[in-house]
Amino acid sequence: MEQLKKRPLFNPEGSVEVRDRRMINGNTTNLNDFNNMKYGWVSDWYRQAMNNFWIPEEINLLRDSKDYPLLSPGERRAYDKILSFLVFLDSIQTANLPAISEYITANEINLCLAIQTFQEAVHSQSYSYMLDTICEPQTRNEVLYQWKNDPHLLARNTFIGDLYNEFQKDKSSRAFLKAVVANFILEGVYFYSGFMFFYNLGRNHKMTGSSQEIRYINRDENTHLWLFRNIILELKKGRTPTVYPRMRQ
Ligand SMILES: [Fe+2]
Ligand SMILES: [Fe+2]
Repeated sequence: MEQLKKRPLFNPEGSVEVRDRRMINGNTTNLNDFNNMKYGWVSDWYRQAMNNFWIPEEINLLRDSKDYPLLSPGERRAYDKILSFLVFLDSIQTANLPAISEYITANEINLCLAIQTFQEAVHSQSYSYMLDTICEPQTRNEVLYQWKNDPHLLARNTFIGDLYNEFQKDKSSRAFLKAVVANFILEGVYFYSGFMFFYNLGRNHKMTGSSQEIRYINRDENTHLWLFRNIILELKKGRTPTVYPRMRQ
């Protein structure tokens, strides 16, 4: 299986021609050139992502701190476990996106990945802000690590985590593609399955600040899906049969 070449860092010999630009295995200078992009959709993506800028503390969670003790034990349990699941997912995204970016040689795509990484960090901070507001420090720490003690959450996270870990060891184009698809599953299935619960609470006029936080996070996640969908489609377009033999056109 073909191995990917790591993106060069300081590389004055890199090509500045748009037609030479490649998603992977290209020869980039790493210059952030906003006017000459091979992937035209990046301009819209970039603008949208910048327009979505927000910080978790914009939302007042005072009412949630009063609602939380009034939730049923089942609702509180679900709130804690889903929050723990989501904070893990955003944390591993923050850690893994730079690992993907190291092998992307189209600078406009790396710009998007840098913004996405920042947003995943903000998302994990928003869960922390929610926990800090609604519970005591001891409970907060206990909730934060439920993702590794609960067998169901751990099994789900292991599926994605193993695919990410595989790409840490194996720099083949196939392991890269699996990591990119795992990213898409995480963003498109895992996150949304967690968001549903908060929206449901919000519809019942419970924890409305939390559901607003989730709404902002969800808006960012939509753009992340847009980004990875396009990365996958561009890889497919630019593929060579030896790199991705099983991808259908
Ligand atoms: Fe996120
Ligand atoms: Fe995301």
